[in-house]
Amino acid sequence: MDFVRNAWYVVMWSQDLKAGELVGRTLLNDPVVIFRDPDGRVNAMEDICPHRLAPLSMGKLVNEGKHIRCAYHGLEFDGAGKCAHNPHASGRIPKNSDVRAYSVVEKHSLIWIWMGERAADPAIIPYFPLLDGAHQVSKRDWLKMQANYQLVVDNLLDVSHTAFLHEGLLGGPDTIKGNMKVVPKETKNALLIERWIDNIPVPKFFDLLFKRDGQRVDNWMNMTWQMPACLTNDTGVTSPGKPRGEGTGIFGMHFITPETDRSSWYHFAAVRQNPISLGEPGDSETMKQIAELRRYAFEVQDKGIIEGQQRILDMPRFKDEPFVPLETDLGTVSIRRHLQDLIDAEKKEKTAVES
Ligand code: FES
Ligand SMILES: [Fe+2]
Repeated sequence: MDFVRNAWYVVMWSQDLKAGELVGRTLLNDPVVIFRDPDGRVNAMEDICPHRLAPLSMGKLVNEGKHIRCAYHGLEFDGAGKCAHNPHASGRIPKNSDVRAYSVVEKHSLIWIWMGERAADPAIIPYFPLLDGAHQVSKRDWLKMQANYQLVVDNLLDVSHTAFLHEGLLGGPDTIKGNMKVVPKETKNALLIERWIDNIPVPKFFDLLFKRDGQRVDNWMNMTWQMPACLTNDTGVTSPGKPRGEGTGIFGMHFITPETDRSSWYHFAAVRQNPISLGEPGDSETMKQIAELRRYAFEVQDKGIIEGQQRILDMPRFKDEPFVPLETDLGTVSIRRHLQDLIDAEKKEKTAVES
């Protein structure tokens, strides 16, 4: 399995990287060490000491938190990956002793990393202004999935599974009756999949946000994908036949980053849209419940199925992912194809550079 490398991937929520700590992560099959320096800037580099290949994340921060000291023989590296100190013999810094550094940007309360060969372009960081400023955001949460990242993206792109896997909580048998429309966005690196479902029994999650009366509703689920693996689910309910402006819902945001071929990091949070206020402490309690119910849906319901798919795909006979697509997989199929084109283009570039 290959990944698009010339793209921005989420490392973690900004709030989860404390000054003074070294965090080792595998991202896109590469070991990465991340730390926040005393100025608050985030640094990321390959988690490999060039001397004897010890993981730098096993070392410690020295020089007032600006350098990583390798735990094995004490070489020190600055935030740009430059070997800054050799404590041995003459102290000469040997050739080829620098570590590859990665471009990192903090935006939308997330830490983004660029691991490609092309120059990092901050202008193409996926757009998530809802995570900024005055919006009240539910718990900035995350899970580790023992599955390829694309299986997690597939799951989010095809919300028809809410009828079965999340029955009662996010959908029900009537959910699959909705109209689905795939709407290409202005660039090939984004896609919108729209669904509107008339007159269904209200799923528990939406009843919590809406009238709390168990009455039937119309339901919309509009999923936007941004390259490489960032999604926003604009979803909510309104009274049957009424415009969505009279209803309520959430924007659920999802960020998936490959760890290895068969594991991924999954970060998520939500913002309410057109909220019906209960005042306090009711509104804070609702935000807490939103976070808890979504985590339950992802951790208990989605994770099991997705990791189950991965276990099957690990069997040698299923090497080629012989999926049988349904009409509801239209978005999934076109995004997989688009990503494969990008991966092929990167491979061509690499071959041209090497030859
Ligand atoms: S392995 Fe890092 S200094 Fe020796
Ligand atoms: Fe799901």
